[in-house]
Amino acid sequence: MKKQVKNNVYWVGKVDWELRTFHGYEYSTHKGSTYNSYLIQEEKTVLIDTVWQPFAKEFVKNLSKEIDLKKIDYIIANHAEIDHSGALPELMRLIPDTPIYCTERGIKSLKGHYHEDWNFIPVKTGQTLDIGNGKELIFIEAPMLHWPDSMFCYMTKDNILFSNDAFGQHYATEDLFNDLVDREELFIEATKYYANILTPFSMLVKKKIEEFASLNLPLDIICTSHGVIWRDNPMQIVEQYLKWADNYLENQISLIYDTMWKGTKRMAESIAAGIKLSNPEIRIKLFPAATTDKNDIVTEIFKSKAILVGSPTINKGFLSSIAGLMEEIRGLNLKKKKAAAFGTYGWSGESVPMITALLKEAKFEIMSEGIKAEWNPNDTAIQECIEFGQEIGRLLLD
Ligand code: FEO
Repeated sequence: MKKQVKNNVYWVGKVDWELRTFHGYEYSTHKGSTYNSYLIQEEKTVLIDTVWQPFAKEFVKNLSKEIDLKKIDYIIANHAEIDHSGALPELMRLIPDTPIYCTERGIKSLKGHYHEDWNFIPVKTGQTLDIGNGKELIFIEAPMLHWPDSMFCYMTKDNILFSNDAFGQHYATEDLFNDLVDREELFIEATKYYANILTPFSMLVKKKIEEFASLNLPLDIICTSHGVIWRDNPMQIVEQYLKWADNYLENQISLIYDTMWKGTKRMAESIAAGIKLSNPEIRIKLFPAATTDKNDIVTEIFKSKAILVGSPTINKGFLSSIAGLMEEIRGLNLKKKKAAAFGTYGWSGESVPMITALLKEAKFEIMSEGIKAEWNPNDTAIQECIEFGQEIGRLLLD
């Protein structure tokens, strides 16, 4: 059933309470998600985005109960990724000639996904579409937020920005609006979404927000493509994005480690104790990488001013959970964060220099060449870890 957003604008999407992973198995969705599609019923009828392919039939069936599908004048595809375009094949079988407005790259991407030559109308920033009743849609290209084809559109008079993935959250809710949900939960999911999906493009986030601001368009509502609609002070999430995009950090250090026989774990705990001694104010968090959700770790790294990464040496390298995480970190393009490595070893001890090299490659500022402990750390080694922690703590004093 459609839900009213404002005046003649309705939500016609799908709430997916069961979703637990997204992008295949790349992104954990502890709170499910929503695929937000919007129906505008002015003099012209406009559909903005659809839903993920598994819900295509349900979506089209529900939509056809609300309107005669043949009455849809325009489809806007703000983004070609399958979670928003997935119902297009089902829909276009019924209304094959309906124009689909999207970016040039959107056309390429939609053709790449579905191998269909629908009635595409390419649009660029600043182009408008008259939807009647004195209202129009203004298109704003948003390349790499977060795909090359991404686009926003803005509805005049009702002052609604349809931002697609930007400002979204993987957060299932029946309540639709930001003022009706648990604020703490909402911001946990919004932070995780930004940290894991938008961090690599922070520079572009800032520029796009500045570009939108320069258009001087009043903003009453932000209709995202996942999670809640921001109707209560929508600028709060825009301002939060500006903070996140500006080399965000909190007074936090995260120690991320894996361990075989608990030696590297004891190192982590001892280093943490040392940090606390010299820097009582800093928030310290420890994460066993093999058993902690990797997207939650990425979120904590995003919030941290520094990270310590630990692994014992194995096969002249380090453990695979840490290797996977280092690849995640490399792609995030984080800036102005500090790091060091630690780990136990028996013979050769490559893990610490190898992790340090990867941290460096990921543009972390290396605070120390790291610390190794031979075999199961003895009392001397534990004391050295505490002193190492104290030194790290001192380096991170505000
Ligand atoms: Fe929600 Fe980039 O798709």
